[in-house]
Amino acid sequence: MSTEPINVSIIFYSMYGHIHQMAEAVAEGANSIPGVDATIYQVPELVPDKVLKNSGAWEIKQAFDHIPEATPAVLEESDAVIFGTPTRFGMMASQMRNFLDQTGKQWAQGALTGKVGSVFASVGGQHGGHETTIRSFHTTLLHHGMAIVGVPYFEDRLNEVEEISGGTPYGATTVAGPTGNRTPTQNELEIAKTQGRHVAQTALKLSAEPSPVAAE
Ligand SMILES: Cc1cc2nc3c(=O)[nH]c(=O)nc-3n(C[C@H](O)[C@H](O)[C@H](O)COP(=O)(O)O)c2cc1C
Repeated sequence: MSTEPINVSIIFYSMYGHIHQMAEAVAEGANSIPGVDATIYQVPELVPDKVLKNSGAWEIKQAFDHIPEATPAVLEESDAVIFGTPTRFGMMASQMRNFLDQTGKQWAQGALTGKVGSVFASVGGQHGGHETTIRSFHTTLLHHGMAIVGVPYFEDRLNEVEEISGGTPYGATTVAGPTGNRTPTQNELEIAKTQGRHVAQTALKLSAEPSPVAAE
């Protein structure tokens, strides 16, 4: 078995910072597993600066401007990829869609087949599309042949009902609030860390196995 660390990439898009915060928690969880090297990337922005400035997002985004941009090559070099996106009408943001739509070469080559894929999300409302955003994202990962991992119920924080909390068995989520005024809670961030740990541990187990066998 190789002594090289396995690579876990956290690839996110965030406009108002919630998903960035969740991405840091996911990375912390993944990096806590010995033998794992987790790195955060963001996908390129598509919204013009003027629009970002008018919406108040431009200043917020400066705080994570230093995080490198993902390229499709990053996917090839990863053993596991954990994607983070805000919801847009119950589905992933177009910035993330645009990134994924540049992975036709990787799809054609089966370059991601057998790698672990996982998704977390930020949603304005409690019922604004947590599950739909993550589950519809999974379709793309399955086309890539990825092995999907969520957050198992050994994470008891998924059962929180005393306070408002995101967090689903499909992946960590946060409730951003109707104006984005809410920040990820401790419960939500801990679930995000669990997702990072669980993806990393699953990828480590898979790395001990022979490469997936191509269809006969
Ligand atoms: C065009 C647009 C569509 C959105 N659609 C939804 C939606 O369907 N449901 C919802 O609860 N929130 C929706 N939101 C709110 C975002 O999901 C929220 O701003 C985001 O989760 C914050 O994450 P971020 O800080 O990482 O950008 C939408 C926001 C925008 C700008």
